[in-house]
Amino acid sequence: MNCFARITGTGSYLPAKAVTNHDLENTVDTSDQWIRERTGIAVRHIASDDETTCDLAEQAARRAMEAAGKTAADIDLIIVATTTPDKIFPSTACLLQARLDVHGCAAFDIQAVCTGFVYALGVADKFIRGGGAKCALVVGAETLSRIVDWTYRTTCVLFGDGAGAAILEASDEPGILSSHLHADGEYEKLLHVPGGVSRKPGPLEGDPGFIQMKGNEVFRMAVNTLGRIVDETLEANGLEKSDIDWLVPHQANIRIISATAKKLAMPMERVVVTVDQHGNTSAASVPLALDTAVRDGRIQRGETLLLEAFGGGFTWGSVLLKF
Ligand code: ACO
Repeated sequence: MNCFARITGTGSYLPAKAVTNHDLENTVDTSDQWIRERTGIAVRHIASDDETTCDLAEQAARRAMEAAGKTAADIDLIIVATTTPDKIFPSTACLLQARLDVHGCAAFDIQAVCTGFVYALGVADKFIRGGGAKCALVVGAETLSRIVDWTYRTTCVLFGDGAGAAILEASDEPGILSSHLHADGEYEKLLHVPGGVSRKPGPLEGDPGFIQMKGNEVFRMAVNTLGRIVDETLEANGLEKSDIDWLVPHQANIRIISATAKKLAMPMERVVVTVDQHGNTSAASVPLALDTAVRDGRIQRGETLLLEAFGGGFTWGSVLLKF
């Protein structure tokens, strides 16, 4: 009797085009020093004009499947977390399903902005524990560059494109121990893209289809909320801070990450930080960080990982797992 969902492979992908802080100095009134000091970001990757979220997702998914030793025939659930789908419909998960030559299984997108991958893992875990799937492909993929105003220095320095993926399999051995998913739509206006499909005028009529954000307020809320979710997760599992081997946080800003690590009394050597290499890639950021630390050998089998994220909605959540 399988009772856990366990990560058996991870993968990630960044588009080839890298845009450094120095590159941005040429287009907006900013500096490498300002960006590094306030955010920790050094470079972000931008999808080419003919590259879509599904393209990025496919690369990450294939790498995760290879790492887990799985083929298309094994996959029986596909969840893609994204804020920047290729099309209004079909979902990016369905487009990815066709690319991978997977047929018939459930495939759907999750929209929880930066918390998307954590939401997707939580949902896939429930599918697997409930017997509804045995081998799930869970992806976080974004082409956020499409909804960034590249003439506005306050936001354009923060974001980038990328994708990360994990294969989650039913197992007798411990995997995901708990997931904690939250949202409060009251905070819609602090971080949003006003344009949309249903609301008129839409982006095509001139309503800004770009990310708008009250940075200071988002920062404060993110730090406080992530502190609380750490407590909630530890308490739910009867664990102490010292039981966590690795913190794998949403990669938005090094100062938000450091504040959460401090709350956990965790040295930064036990925190996976990749924000310097790709900026805030929203739903892709947690799996990008996870895959990086798995592939470079930092994260080892049997270790206890805390994944957490905060984003537009507001949404926030965590996943505690044995790797
Ligand atoms: N380069 C140079 N100067 C800049 C830039 C820039 N790119 N952007 C803003 N400034 C200026 C501002 O105009 C302001 O100038 P002023 O003092 O003359 O008015 C000054 O820098 C300070 O601006 P603040 O907004 O107060 O800077 P702050 O220290 O708050 O840093 C930042 C801004 C980095 C956006 C921070 O608030 C932040 O990280 N917030 C969280 C936002 C975030 O991560 N959002 C992503 C989605 S949510 C999530 O993923 C958690």
